[in-house]
Amino acid sequence: MNILVTGGAGFIGSNFLNLMVPRHPEHHFINADKLTYAANLENLAGIAKRDNYQLERVDIGDAAAVRDLFERMRPNMVIHFAAESHVDRSIHAPESFIQTNINGTFHLLEAFRALPKGEGQLFHHVSTDEVYGSLGATGLFREDTAYDPSSPYSASKAASDHLVRAYHRTYGLPVKLTNCSNNYGPYQFPEKLIPLMILNAVEGKPLPVYGKGENIRDWLYVDDHCEAIWTVIERGKMGGTYNIGGLNERKNIDVVHTICELVAEEKGVPKAELLKQIKYVEDRPGHDLRYAIDPAKIMRECGWKPKESFETGIRKTVRWYLGNEAWVKDVRSGAYRDWIEKNYAGR
Ligand code: NAD
Ligand code: DAU
Repeated sequence: MNILVTGGAGFIGSNFLNLMVPRHPEHHFINADKLTYAANLENLAGIAKRDNYQLERVDIGDAAAVRDLFERMRPNMVIHFAAESHVDRSIHAPESFIQTNINGTFHLLEAFRALPKGEGQLFHHVSTDEVYGSLGATGLFREDTAYDPSSPYSASKAASDHLVRAYHRTYGLPVKLTNCSNNYGPYQFPEKLIPLMILNAVEGKPLPVYGKGENIRDWLYVDDHCEAIWTVIERGKMGGTYNIGGLNERKNIDVVHTICELVAEEKGVPKAELLKQIKYVEDRPGHDLRYAIDPAKIMRECGWKPKESFETGIRKTVRWYLGNEAWVKDVRSGAYRDWIEKNYAGR
């Protein structure tokens, strides 16, 4: 089977390909990626030379390029990770989020619909729990929770989810969707909370906590997300939506404290010194208070459950960032420094 994986050079896409390409020599994986700032081909060094893997540099915002790709590759399956993914960037500059997340998804759906119908066809859409908006102190996101996105990022992902479902209902396109909670693990670009805090802690830089640090996120180790996607592809109902999460709710400030503790342990420095680096900064506009997933449906229907607890996953992640200095040095490019200046200036 030809499997087109969009955004396979980003954080989750590259972890997915690193797991699935060696495990499934019977499938051919085509990684279609624009290679934006968030992509890194070093993530894929372990599989780049495998016979069942190839890279195609494509912007999914370009309809003609997407059509051409589909005509050449004739994918049986599309696993759609590609997106602009960072909420703060969507607040500073929303346009690319509309272009990639909405128009890009539309172009992929149209190109897939134009292919001849065949056995085993599937469009798997990778989405987020942020489409549901914010929870209060209680409750969990279920698959039937109403959409109520807060940021340009989550609104663009909500629009893409609606398009995918509409193509199923209107044209009978074979689709499945997954909406996952916050991921962490190797290869995550250090604009996101966990890698940013690990690296800033090590480098003696401020640890910028938005607002009072009381917002809650539900953390899932990236490999558990990747395995969940594969399980839904194999066992999920056609046209179905599955929420993915590991019941690991944490306040942001508690996550930062845990990271300080683990970095202190690994580096042999006092935790109290690292805690002094915490700086409470101006809050994110429209900051959702709490996310928490009810994973009962995927557990019941597909038999998935996560392998990592937050404690085991965060320890592995801290060790990975401390042990991969070359990777870290590479991602801290000029463009990355410009972003840090822009996002944290005045906070
Ligand atoms: P990421 O930002 O690390 O990677 C995105 C990838 O998409 C990059 O390789 C980038 O080059 C590529 N890309 C961006 N624009 C493109 C375009 N126009 N054409 C082709 N490729 C393009 O993102 P991630 O964290 O790996 O997220 C992957 C997917 O999972 C996204 O759809 C995101 O919404 C979803 N998701 C992420 C999380 C999370 O916690 N990171 C949680 C749930 C769902
Ligand atoms: O819930 C899934 C989503 O998780 C994905 O769809 C997104 O692609 C992904 O980026 C992530 O979104 P968040 O906004 O939750 O992740 P982020 O790492 O940006 O922030 C996590 C929390 O930490 C959030 O409450 C904001 C806070 N934060 C973040 C940064 C970057 C800080 O306090 N300080 C920071 O410097």
